[in-house]
Amino acid sequence: MPDEPKVGIVTKDVAGATHAILCFSGKEGPEPVNEGYKGHVKKLREVKFLAKAGEVALVDGIIFVGLGEKGKFKPRHARKIPGAAIGLAKALRTRSLLIDSRGLDVLPVKNLVYAAFVSVHKYEEFKTKEESKGKGADEVFPEEVLIFVSDGHVAVANEAKIVAESINFARDIANKPANVATPQLMAAEAKKLASRAGLGYKLITKKDMQRMGMNAFLAVASGSGREPTLSILEYRSPGAKKTLVVAGKGLTFDSGGISLKPSKGMEDMKFDKSGACAVLGIMKAVSEMRPKINVIGMVPCTENMPSGTAAKPGDIVRAYNGKTIEILNTDAEGRLVLADVLAYAERKYKPDYMIDIATLTGACVVALGSYAMGMFSNDDEFAEMLKKASSEGFDEVWHMPLWEEYSEMNKGKFADIANVTNTGEAGAVTAAAFLSSFVSSAKWVHLDIAGTAYRNKPIPPVDVGCTGSGVSVVLEVIKLIERAKH
Ligand code: BES
Ligand code: MN
Ligand code: ZN
Repeated sequence: MPDEPKVGIVTKDVAGATHAILCFSGKEGPEPVNEGYKGHVKKLREVKFLAKAGEVALVDGIIFVGLGEKGKFKPRHARKIPGAAIGLAKALRTRSLLIDSRGLDVLPVKNLVYAAFVSVHKYEEFKTKEESKGKGADEVFPEEVLIFVSDGHVAVANEAKIVAESINFARDIANKPANVATPQLMAAEAKKLASRAGLGYKLITKKDMQRMGMNAFLAVASGSGREPTLSILEYRSPGAKKTLVVAGKGLTFDSGGISLKPSKGMEDMKFDKSGACAVLGIMKAVSEMRPKINVIGMVPCTENMPSGTAAKPGDIVRAYNGKTIEILNTDAEGRLVLADVLAYAERKYKPDYMIDIATLTGACVVALGSYAMGMFSNDDEFAEMLKKASSEGFDEVWHMPLWEEYSEMNKGKFADIANVTNTGEAGAVTAAAFLSSFVSSAKWVHLDIAGTAYRNKPIPPVDVGCTGSGVSVVLEVIKLIERAKH
């Protein structure tokens, strides 16, 4: 027995499947998006189905799903459709559910397909069989969820499937606990992906880091009994004119180090590797989508732990690019790791574009909550590209400022730069400004996913745990870079 529904895309009707039909709520009652179902409207009115967003009804053996008013319906609202239809199908113990997307515009179809793949996927690696049997979960309803797409939307649907499966791949790794997902396991996962997907793989070890002077990264790792790893995945397209580096923060656990975090909620800091996992997801999708640009994925992983050898507040280290950093707070560790990784990636790969994805600051969670990631850039045009990419994909980004005044706030007392400011104001922005000092000429975007990377309560279409935040927007922007003139 499978433990989750199988999801598929179909272009023909499937006899025997329970159909889910979408309806807008019009002035005169429900309006089926697929006009072939107009004949059921009278009955729907009789049962007082208004087609409000999220409303479901079973009429004539068909599941009807409300989308609300047509004028207010946005592509991202389509992400709630599979959950609503599956919920009723489950209650009905339906084996096969077919969600009819015909009649929807292309972007809602794309979001619907994404949501179907992502919403059925749960992280249950450590739930024992006995326990799930105890809940009567040995039978799965529905067994399959099929998305019926019109011929014109097949290509988009298939691509949404690749992206969604890469998101699920990223989620599965990010959800692993820190005793399992060590920096060593992260490197093994990266290597396994590379060999399966035909990507180049390089491992930079602690020794290499010492030789190359990645002392900011090493300072973070110095409190842990586990050695840091830096995996590099390389996708090269013959004749490519552009190179993109994508780097993800991979703190397999962030205790705060000597600047120890409070115990409450500290378990969530196993998700501090979500950026690195997003990069793995991106590289998996890139190997399948085969864009005409080079894409280099940087996956730096370490724990941030307190110990007798840990970095201490006041310590000064010289980063890979030669700048000295005063570590005033060992809990501002992500920026130390990324400082070395961004500087190294830029020197080594001479990318036109760099993107980093990081659960960087609690301040970003305060600013934007769980719905949008903070976006910071040294190049307004590149930031615009990401904004466009997010509007066509499944991630939401919000452009934040990055003026030189914020960089001035990071000035060190005893070194070139400090890893925290003394006022604590604008925490998400000053963290981004810190990173900007380690980027010289590449067009660079920093995505702070601290609020979007994981959740403790489900927000449809994603269950509790890691969300795969950042995978979609980067894959979308890769298509824009491919098409860019300069
Ligand atoms: N990993 C945290 C940021 C974080 C907080 C992610 C909450 C997800 C949810 C990061 O390393 C951190 O500890 N940042 C500090 C920075 C501070 C010391 C300047 C923070 O945000 O408190
Ligand atoms: Mn921290
Ligand atoms: Zn952290």
